[in-house]
Amino acid sequence: MAFSKKEKYNVAVVGATGAVGRRMITTLAERDFPVDRLVLLASARSAGQVLTFKGKSIAVELLTESSFAGQDFALFSAGASVSLKYAPFSVDAGCIVIDNSSAFRMEKDIPLVVPEVNPDAIPDQPEIIANPNCSTIQMVVALHPIHAKYRIKRVVVSTYQSVSGSGQKAIAELTTQSMAVLDGKDTSSEVYPHQIAFNCLPHIDVFLDNGYTKEEMKMVNETRKILGDDSIQVSPTTVRVPVFYSHSESVNVETEAPISAEAVKKLLRHSPGIRVVDDPERSEYPLAIDAEGKDEVFVGRLRNDLSRKKAINFWIVSDNLRKGAALNAVQIAELIVGR
Ligand code: A2P
Repeated sequence: MAFSKKEKYNVAVVGATGAVGRRMITTLAERDFPVDRLVLLASARSAGQVLTFKGKSIAVELLTESSFAGQDFALFSAGASVSLKYAPFSVDAGCIVIDNSSAFRMEKDIPLVVPEVNPDAIPDQPEIIANPNCSTIQMVVALHPIHAKYRIKRVVVSTYQSVSGSGQKAIAELTTQSMAVLDGKDTSSEVYPHQIAFNCLPHIDVFLDNGYTKEEMKMVNETRKILGDDSIQVSPTTVRVPVFYSHSESVNVETEAPISAEAVKKLLRHSPGIRVVDDPERSEYPLAIDAEGKDEVFVGRLRNDLSRKKAINFWIVSDNLRKGAALNAVQIAELIVGR
Protein backbone atom coordinates (compact mmCIF):
# COMPACT_ATOMS: atom_id res chain seq x y z
CA MET A 1 0.00 0.00 0.00
CA ALA A 2 1.50 3.32 -1.07
CA PHE A 3 1.85 6.24 1.29
CA SER A 4 -0.51 9.06 0.42
CA LYS A 5 -0.71 12.59 1.76
CA LYS A 6 -3.57 13.34 4.13
CA GLU A 7 -4.60 16.11 6.46
CA LYS A 8 -4.09 13.91 9.52
CA TYR A 9 -2.45 10.58 10.16
CA ASN A 10 -3.04 7.60 12.41
CA VAL A 11 0.04 7.07 14.55
CA ALA A 12 0.99 4.13 16.75
CA VAL A 13 3.67 4.35 19.46
CA VAL A 14 5.16 0.94 20.25
CA GLY A 15 6.69 0.98 23.74
CA ALA A 16 4.49 3.92 24.70
CA THR A 17 5.06 3.49 28.43
CA GLY A 18 8.86 3.53 28.16
CA ALA A 19 11.31 6.38 28.66
CA VAL A 20 11.48 7.10 24.90
CA GLY A 21 7.85 6.19 24.14
CA ARG A 22 6.59 8.80 26.63
CA ARG A 23 8.80 11.43 24.96
CA MET A 24 7.43 10.37 21.58
CA ILE A 25 3.92 11.14 22.80
CA THR A 26 4.87 14.57 24.19
CA THR A 27 6.96 15.40 21.11
CA LEU A 28 4.03 14.60 18.78
CA ALA A 29 1.89 16.95 20.90
CA GLU A 30 4.44 19.75 21.26
CA ARG A 31 5.25 19.84 17.56
CA ASP A 32 1.58 19.56 16.66
CA PHE A 33 2.16 16.62 14.36
CA PRO A 34 -1.09 16.12 12.40
CA VAL A 35 -2.36 13.15 14.43
CA ASP A 36 -5.82 11.77 13.78
CA ARG A 37 -5.87 8.63 15.95
CA LEU A 38 -3.05 7.88 18.39
CA VAL A 39 -2.66 4.24 19.40
CA LEU A 40 -0.43 3.48 22.38
CA LEU A 41 1.05 -0.01 22.46
CA ALA A 42 3.05 -1.92 25.06
CA SER A 43 3.26 -5.38 26.62
CA ALA A 44 0.65 -7.06 28.81
CA ARG A 45 2.50 -5.58 31.81
CA SER A 46 1.07 -2.13 31.12
CA ALA A 47 -1.92 -2.70 28.83
CA GLY A 48 -4.83 -0.74 30.29
CA GLN A 49 -2.61 1.95 31.81
CA VAL A 50 -3.87 5.41 30.84
CA LEU A 51 -1.59 8.07 29.31
CA THR A 52 -2.51 11.53 28.06
CA PHE A 53 -2.04 13.18 24.67
CA LYS A 54 -3.07 16.82 24.24
CA GLY A 55 -5.21 16.57 27.39
CA LYS A 56 -7.00 13.43 26.17
CA SER A 57 -6.75 10.13 28.05
CA ILE A 58 -5.71 7.15 25.97
CA ALA A 59 -5.54 3.59 27.30
CA VAL A 60 -2.43 1.60 26.43
CA GLU A 61 -3.22 -1.46 24.31
CA LEU A 62 -1.45 -4.78 24.06
CA LEU A 63 0.87 -4.93 21.05
CA THR A 64 -0.25 -7.66 18.66
CA GLU A 65 0.37 -8.63 15.06
CA SER A 66 -2.82 -6.81 14.05
CA SER A 67 -2.12 -3.57 15.94
CA PHE A 68 -1.13 -1.75 12.74
CA ALA A 69 -4.31 -2.08 10.66
CA GLY A 70 -5.40 1.38 9.52
CA GLN A 71 -2.29 3.09 10.94
CA ASP A 72 -0.06 5.36 8.84
CA PHE A 73 3.00 5.56 11.10
CA ALA A 74 4.38 3.32 13.84
CA LEU A 75 7.10 4.78 16.03
CA PHE A 76 8.88 1.83 17.66
CA SER A 77 10.88 2.05 20.87
CA ALA A 78 10.44 -1.24 22.67
CA GLY A 79 13.82 -2.85 21.97
CA ALA A 80 15.30 -4.64 18.98
CA SER A 81 13.55 -7.98 19.50
CA VAL A 82 10.12 -6.33 19.49
CA SER A 83 11.03 -4.39 16.34
CA LEU A 84 12.33 -7.50 14.59
CA LYS A 85 9.14 -9.38 15.40
CA TYR A 86 6.51 -6.69 14.81
CA ALA A 87 7.90 -4.23 12.22
CA PRO A 88 7.14 -6.67 9.37
CA PHE A 89 3.45 -6.75 10.40
CA SER A 90 3.40 -2.97 10.31
CA VAL A 91 4.95 -2.91 6.84
CA ASP A 92 2.42 -5.52 5.65
CA ALA A 93 -0.38 -3.28 6.92
CA GLY A 94 1.02 -0.35 4.90
CA CYS A 95 2.11 1.47 8.05
CA ILE A 96 5.53 3.19 7.88
CA VAL A 97 7.89 2.10 10.66
CA ILE A 98 10.27 4.59 12.26
CA ASP A 99 12.36 2.36 14.46
CA ASN A 100 14.39 3.61 17.39
CA SER A 101 15.99 0.24 18.09
CA SER A 102 19.22 -1.13 16.65
CA ALA A 103 17.35 -3.89 14.77
CA PHE A 104 17.58 -2.52 11.23
CA ARG A 105 20.11 0.31 11.38
CA MET A 106 22.90 -1.37 9.47
CA GLU A 107 20.65 -3.19 6.96
CA LYS A 108 21.81 -2.16 3.50
CA ASP A 109 18.38 -1.22 2.16
CA ILE A 110 17.11 0.53 5.27
CA PRO A 111 17.80 4.26 5.55
CA LEU A 112 19.41 5.50 8.77
CA VAL A 113 18.31 9.08 9.05
CA VAL A 114 19.14 12.26 10.92
CA PRO A 115 17.00 14.97 9.29
CA GLU A 116 19.66 17.70 9.60
CA VAL A 117 22.20 15.43 7.91
CA ASN A 118 20.77 13.01 5.34
CA PRO A 119 17.05 13.73 4.76
CA ASP A 120 17.40 12.57 1.15
CA ALA A 121 18.06 9.01 2.31
CA ILE A 122 14.30 8.62 2.83
CA PRO A 123 12.83 6.98 -0.29
CA ASP A 124 9.57 8.07 -1.94
CA GLN A 125 7.73 5.07 -0.55
CA PRO A 126 9.41 4.31 2.77
CA GLU A 127 8.67 1.12 4.70
CA ILE A 128 11.15 1.02 7.59
CA ILE A 129 13.35 3.96 8.52
CA ALA A 130 15.89 3.50 11.28
CA ASN A 131 16.53 6.12 13.94
CA PRO A 132 20.24 6.06 14.84
CA ASN A 133 21.79 5.44 18.22
CA CYS A 134 21.41 8.40 20.59
CA SER A 135 25.14 9.13 20.96
CA THR A 136 25.62 8.93 17.21
CA ILE A 137 22.75 11.31 16.42
CA GLN A 138 24.07 14.20 18.48
CA MET A 139 27.61 13.64 17.22
CA VAL A 140 26.74 13.57 13.51
CA VAL A 141 24.60 16.72 13.78
CA ALA A 142 27.84 18.50 14.77
CA LEU A 143 30.15 16.52 12.46
CA HIS A 144 28.10 16.97 9.29
CA PRO A 145 28.85 20.68 8.64
CA ILE A 146 32.50 20.11 9.59
CA HIS A 147 32.79 17.15 7.22
CA ALA A 148 31.17 19.10 4.36
CA LYS A 149 33.67 21.94 4.70
CA TYR A 150 36.90 20.31 5.93
CA ARG A 151 36.54 16.54 5.20
CA ILE A 152 36.86 14.60 8.41
CA LYS A 153 39.58 11.93 8.50
CA ARG A 154 39.34 10.75 12.09
CA VAL A 155 37.14 11.22 15.16
CA VAL A 156 38.18 10.25 18.69
CA VAL A 157 35.14 10.34 20.97
CA SER A 158 34.47 9.55 24.62
CA THR A 159 30.87 9.62 25.81
CA TYR A 160 29.34 10.40 29.19
CA GLN A 161 25.91 8.83 28.78
CA SER A 162 22.94 9.27 31.08
CA VAL A 163 21.01 6.37 32.57
CA SER A 164 17.74 7.28 30.83
CA GLY A 165 19.30 5.72 27.72
CA SER A 166 18.79 2.36 29.45
CA GLY A 167 15.09 3.05 30.10
CA GLN A 168 12.80 3.68 33.05
CA LYS A 169 14.28 0.91 35.22
CA ALA A 170 17.72 2.49 35.03
CA ILE A 171 16.35 5.89 36.09
CA ALA A 172 14.82 4.17 39.12
CA GLU A 173 18.06 2.27 39.82
CA LEU A 174 20.15 5.46 39.93
CA THR A 175 17.58 7.10 42.22
CA THR A 176 17.37 4.26 44.75
CA GLN A 177 21.12 3.59 44.72
CA SER A 178 21.93 7.27 45.27
CA MET A 179 19.60 7.43 48.26
CA ALA A 180 21.02 4.18 49.67
CA VAL A 181 24.63 5.40 49.35
CA LEU A 182 23.80 8.72 51.02
CA ASP A 183 22.06 6.79 53.81
CA GLY A 184 25.15 4.61 54.27
CA LYS A 185 23.25 1.50 53.13
CA ASP A 186 24.24 -1.32 50.74
CA THR A 187 23.14 -1.05 47.11
CA SER A 188 21.95 -3.67 44.67
CA SER A 189 22.20 -3.52 40.88
CA GLU A 190 19.80 -5.02 38.36
CA VAL A 191 20.10 -2.96 35.19
CA TYR A 192 23.88 -2.46 35.29
CA PRO A 193 26.62 -4.95 36.22
CA HIS A 194 27.92 -2.54 38.90
CA GLN A 195 26.67 0.30 41.08
CA ILE A 196 25.96 3.32 38.85
CA ALA A 197 25.42 5.84 41.68
CA PHE A 198 28.61 7.89 42.24
CA ASN A 199 30.39 5.76 39.65
CA CYS A 200 31.27 5.61 35.92
CA LEU A 201 30.90 2.39 33.93
CA PRO A 202 33.04 2.05 30.78
CA HIS A 203 30.57 -0.53 29.51
CA ILE A 204 27.44 0.17 27.42
CA ASP A 205 25.71 -2.73 25.66
CA VAL A 206 27.62 -6.00 25.26
CA PHE A 207 31.34 -6.57 24.67
CA LEU A 208 32.35 -7.84 21.24
CA ASP A 209 35.31 -10.00 20.17
CA ASN A 210 37.39 -6.93 19.26
CA GLY A 211 37.26 -5.64 22.84
CA TYR A 212 34.88 -2.79 22.00
CA THR A 213 31.28 -2.67 23.15
CA LYS A 214 28.36 -2.86 20.74
CA GLU A 215 27.53 0.77 21.65
CA GLU A 216 31.04 1.80 20.59
CA MET A 217 30.78 -0.05 17.28
CA LYS A 218 27.38 1.59 16.67
CA MET A 219 29.19 4.94 16.78
CA VAL A 220 31.76 3.69 14.24
CA ASN A 221 29.37 2.10 11.77
CA GLU A 222 26.36 4.40 12.06
CA THR A 223 28.51 7.55 11.70
CA ARG A 224 29.90 6.24 8.40
CA LYS A 225 26.48 5.24 7.12
CA ILE A 226 24.77 8.54 7.99
CA LEU A 227 27.59 10.72 6.67
CA GLY A 228 27.86 8.44 3.61
CA ASP A 229 31.62 8.07 3.92
CA ASP A 230 33.24 4.77 4.89
CA SER A 231 36.68 6.38 5.01
CA ILE A 232 35.95 8.25 8.26
CA GLN A 233 37.88 6.66 11.15
CA VAL A 234 36.05 6.66 14.47
CA SER A 235 37.77 5.71 17.74
CA PRO A 236 35.12 5.52 20.49
CA THR A 237 34.91 4.90 24.24
CA THR A 238 31.37 4.90 25.64
CA VAL A 239 30.78 5.42 29.35
CA ARG A 240 27.64 5.36 31.49
CA VAL A 241 27.65 8.11 34.12
CA PRO A 242 25.29 8.87 37.04
CA VAL A 243 23.32 11.53 35.17
CA PHE A 244 19.57 11.15 34.60
CA TYR A 245 19.09 12.90 31.25
CA SER A 246 21.31 14.08 28.34
CA HIS A 247 24.47 12.54 26.94
CA SER A 248 27.74 14.49 26.86
CA GLU A 249 30.64 13.76 24.50
CA SER A 250 34.27 14.83 24.29
CA VAL A 251 35.20 14.85 20.61
CA ASN A 252 38.50 15.26 18.77
CA VAL A 253 38.20 15.73 15.01
CA GLU A 254 41.06 15.56 12.53
CA THR A 255 40.45 16.90 9.03
CA GLU A 256 41.99 16.91 5.52
CA ALA A 257 41.72 20.69 5.14
CA PRO A 258 43.25 23.18 7.57
CA ILE A 259 40.77 23.84 10.38
CA SER A 260 40.52 26.13 13.40
CA ALA A 261 38.29 26.15 16.45
CA GLU A 262 37.31 29.76 15.76
CA ALA A 263 36.17 29.01 12.19
CA VAL A 264 34.20 25.93 13.32
CA LYS A 265 32.52 27.98 16.03
CA LYS A 266 31.25 30.36 13.35
CA LEU A 267 30.26 27.49 11.07
CA LEU A 268 28.29 25.67 13.79
CA ARG A 269 26.51 28.88 14.83
CA HIS A 270 24.76 28.76 11.46
CA SER A 271 24.24 25.00 11.22
CA PRO A 272 20.80 23.39 11.66
CA GLY A 273 19.87 21.88 15.01
CA ILE A 274 22.95 23.27 16.80
CA ARG A 275 23.35 25.86 19.53
CA VAL A 276 26.90 26.98 20.31
CA VAL A 277 27.42 27.68 24.03
CA ASP A 278 31.06 28.62 24.40
CA ASP A 279 32.09 31.40 26.74
CA PRO A 280 34.60 29.79 29.11
CA GLU A 281 35.42 33.07 30.87
CA ARG A 282 31.83 33.20 32.10
CA SER A 283 31.83 29.44 32.78
CA GLU A 284 29.41 28.92 29.91
CA TYR A 285 29.55 25.60 28.10
CA PRO A 286 27.00 22.87 27.35
CA LEU A 287 25.69 21.04 30.41
CA ALA A 288 23.51 17.94 30.68
CA ILE A 289 21.11 19.61 33.09
CA ASP A 290 20.63 22.56 30.71
CA ALA A 291 20.10 20.35 27.64
CA GLU A 292 17.39 18.27 29.34
CA GLY A 293 14.05 18.92 27.69
CA LYS A 294 15.58 20.93 24.84
CA ASP A 295 15.66 20.06 21.15
CA GLU A 296 19.09 21.33 20.16
CA VAL A 297 22.50 19.74 20.08
CA PHE A 298 24.69 22.00 22.23
CA VAL A 299 28.36 22.46 21.29
CA GLY A 300 31.08 24.25 23.23
CA ARG A 301 34.66 24.12 24.58
CA LEU A 302 35.90 24.51 21.00
CA ARG A 303 39.71 24.41 21.06
CA ASN A 304 42.52 23.87 18.59
CA ASP A 305 44.26 20.57 19.22
CA LEU A 306 47.68 21.55 20.60
CA SER A 307 49.22 18.26 19.49
CA ARG A 308 48.11 18.28 15.86
CA LYS A 309 47.78 20.90 13.15
CA LYS A 310 44.53 20.00 11.44
CA ALA A 311 42.49 18.96 14.47
CA ILE A 312 40.12 20.48 17.01
CA ASN A 313 38.47 19.46 20.27
CA PHE A 314 34.95 20.16 21.44
CA TRP A 315 32.17 19.10 23.81
CA ILE A 316 28.70 18.06 22.64
CA VAL A 317 25.60 17.69 24.84
CA SER A 318 22.05 16.79 23.90
CA ASP A 319 18.92 15.32 25.48
CA ASN A 320 19.25 11.64 24.56
CA LEU A 321 15.52 11.00 24.85
CA ARG A 322 14.64 13.94 22.58
CA LYS A 323 17.10 14.59 19.74
CA GLY A 324 18.72 11.26 20.54
CA ALA A 325 15.44 9.39 20.07
CA ALA A 326 11.87 10.78 20.13
CA LEU A 327 12.44 14.12 18.41
CA ASN A 328 14.56 12.60 15.65
CA ALA A 329 11.82 10.02 14.99
CA VAL A 330 9.08 12.65 14.84
CA GLN A 331 11.24 14.85 12.58
CA ILE A 332 11.53 11.90 10.18
CA ALA A 333 7.73 11.57 10.12
CA GLU A 334 7.46 15.33 9.54
CA LEU A 335 9.80 15.08 6.56
CA ILE A 336 7.62 12.36 5.03
CA VAL A 337 4.31 14.17 5.49
CA GLY A 338 5.85 17.49 4.44
CA ARG A 339 7.01 16.33 1.01
P1 A2P B 1 5.81 -2.31 29.24
O1 A2P B 1 5.49 -1.04 30.01
O2 A2P B 1 4.58 -3.09 28.98
O3 A2P B 1 6.93 -3.10 29.84
P2 A2P B 1 12.04 1.33 28.63
O4 A2P B 1 13.01 1.50 27.48
O5 A2P B 1 11.82 2.58 29.39
O6 A2P B 1 12.41 0.16 29.47
O7 A2P B 1 10.62 0.98 27.94
C1 A2P B 1 10.46 -0.12 27.10
C2 A2P B 1 9.08 -0.04 26.43
O8 A2P B 1 8.94 -1.16 25.58
C3 A2P B 1 7.94 -0.08 27.41
O9 A2P B 1 6.87 0.67 26.91
C4 A2P B 1 7.59 -1.57 27.42
O10 A2P B 1 6.24 -1.82 27.76
C5 A2P B 1 7.77 -1.87 25.95
N1 A2P B 1 7.95 -3.31 25.72
C6 A2P B 1 8.95 -4.10 26.18
N2 A2P B 1 8.78 -5.37 25.76
C7 A2P B 1 7.65 -5.39 25.02
C8 A2P B 1 6.94 -6.38 24.32
N3 A2P B 1 7.34 -7.65 24.28
N4 A2P B 1 5.79 -6.03 23.66
C9 A2P B 1 5.37 -4.76 23.70
N5 A2P B 1 5.99 -3.77 24.34
C10 A2P B 1 7.13 -4.06 25.00
